[in-house]
Amino acid sequence: ELPRTFVLIKPDAVRRGLVGEVLSRFERKGLQIVAMKQVQVSGELADQHYAEHLERDFYPPLRAFVTSGPSVALVLTGDQVVETVRLMNGATDGRKAAPGTIRGDLSLSNRENLVHGSDSAESAEREIALWFPELEPVEGRA
Ligand code: CMP
Repeated sequence: ELPRTFVLIKPDAVRRGLVGEVLSRFERKGLQIVAMKQVQVSGELADQHYAEHLERDFYPPLRAFVTSGPSVALVLTGDQVVETVRLMNGATDGRKAAPGTIRGDLSLSNRENLVHGSDSAESAEREIALWFPELEPVEGRA
């Protein structure tokens, strides 16, 4: 069975009209979209999603940003999808991300960096359960 990952296309990407560009990159790579929805993220959902960052200095402005407009939430599947998506997203800071990556090509910010991708299979299953409670959990997965 193929692994899954969670991707959030953040409000900067939606505002800039880059949803199609981001989706197109994942599709052309050969990954499959297994769930997708537009969501207005609440402060509560942001706090749950970013639980590990709640105490960080950068969290209050990150929370304001991620709740500032609609986002698009995705579940993707494919061979080594967690690692593949992180490579395609690039380094967190768009100013340092390699050209050819989503952030490297399209972002100049450490916060407004267009996309989030789960950092491990365990995070992916936690995030999928949080954002897509309607999806079946996959038995035996992290
Ligand atoms: P993401 O992959 O969603 O995980 C945490 C997010 O916090 C990250 O992408 C950035 O949007 C944001 N972030 C991480 N580090 C910083 C930082 N030093 N300053 C501002 N925002 C940050």
